[in-house]
Amino acid sequence: MGILGPTSRCPDICQSPNPPSPARMLLSLLLLSWEWGARAASPPLPPASVTLRLLQINVFHNASSTDMEGMALLGDLETHSMDCSTCQIRFLQPWAQRGLTPKEWQDLELLIHHYLFNFNRTVNRIAQQQGMAYPFITQGSLGCELHPNGTSRGFDDTGVNGEDFISFDADAGKWVAWQGDKLALYAQDLLNLDKSTAITLQFLLRMTCVNQIKSFVQHGKESLERQERPVAVVFARAPSPAGTPAPLLLVCRVTGFYPRPIRVAWLQDGEEVGPGGRVSSSGILPNADLTYQLRSSLAVEPGDGHSYTCRVEHSSLGGQSLLIPWGHSRGWGPGLAVGITLGALAVAAVAVVLWRSRRRGYQDVRPGESRA
Ligand SMILES: *[C@@H]1O[C@H](CO)[C@@H](O)[C@H](O)[C@H]1NC(C)=O
Ligand SMILES: *[C@@H]1O[C@H](CO)[C@@H](O)[C@H](O)[C@H]1NC(C)=O
Ligand SMILES: *[C@@H]1O[C@H](CO)[C@@H](O)[C@H](O)[C@H]1NC(C)=O
Repeated sequence: MGILGPTSRCPDICQSPNPPSPARMLLSLLLLSWEWGARAASPPLPPASVTLRLLQINVFHNASSTDMEGMALLGDLETHSMDCSTCQIRFLQPWAQRGLTPKEWQDLELLIHHYLFNFNRTVNRIAQQQGMAYPFITQGSLGCELHPNGTSRGFDDTGVNGEDFISFDADAGKWVAWQGDKLALYAQDLLNLDKSTAITLQFLLRMTCVNQIKSFVQHGKESLERQERPVAVVFARAPSPAGTPAPLLLVCRVTGFYPRPIRVAWLQDGEEVGPGGRVSSSGILPNADLTYQLRSSLAVEPGDGHSYTCRVEHSSLGGQSLLIPWGHSRGWGPGLAVGITLGALAVAAVAVVLWRSRRRGYQDVRPGESRA
């Protein structure tokens, strides 16, 4: 999905000159939260920490033109999105609409429009008073993390042009600038004047967000607990310049697994090779289909006589490990050399045969002879 859709403007409501007061917004949120709480009678806590995150990206082209796109993520699952060609919430999971009635979703949408209106106005005001150069981009990440022990942590961080700019301290109810420059301090002081928005935000991060995680964890259980088994192969990266006894890299490529946590280790003669110089890892990288991949490499001396095995541990494997051996039975020292020699001989043989048949082809056509 593109980060920014086509030219998108908030509909009428965003342009409304009289957005509701924060007090009214707080009241709406209270009602929503009360509904959530009442409907999901003490929902269970998640078995592992879960984060609900709203991402918001705004491009301020100039003082009168802004593009906006937002999305919600539960852990690594994209659940909702919004771009302001319509400014409507889109539901990206079959269960993403559950937990609230259509009317409540409409109220929430309205609330977001008012928030966006205020955000746009505040940022433009700061930009104009501080002589910030257009265009610029803001990125916001707002949400909460709920732990199995019932504690939670709310966050609201904003960056400008890719740099950390300001964060909300949900416990203290205060904005804190990341940098000490005039612009950041001005923004910090301006936002801290607005006590009612700070209270609303505190409530949103500590109550509404946490209730919503609990509700989603119930409704989206199946998606969240999806298990995809890893597929792993071991191969050797061709040794560097021919003839030099340079270390060989054994690569264990593991892909297609979900969820993300995984453990990949190398065993030498059955003993785990400790972390350090010989082992390196690509880190866990995303695939396009919401599974993950990782490569782990081990440097070995060609023909050292040891056996090597890649071991993969993942929640989808039901307590068992995947073991992919690269034993000395598959000797890559002399074996590889023999392989290359045989390969070269085969190529040479094919070349000779082709050359001969072409020659015969030419010879078959005698000068002066015509062909139909
Ligand atoms: C503001 O930016 C938009 C989009 O880039 C452009 O169409 C518009 O003409 C600009 N307006 C002014 C006043 O510069
Ligand atoms: C953002 O604010 C500016 C200035 O206050 C206003 O002219 C513009 O219409 C607003 N844009 C959106 C998308 O609300
Ligand atoms: C709850 O769990 C989180 C994450 O595991 C931990 O950081 C926090 O200290 C715990 N809090 C309490 C009160 O046990």
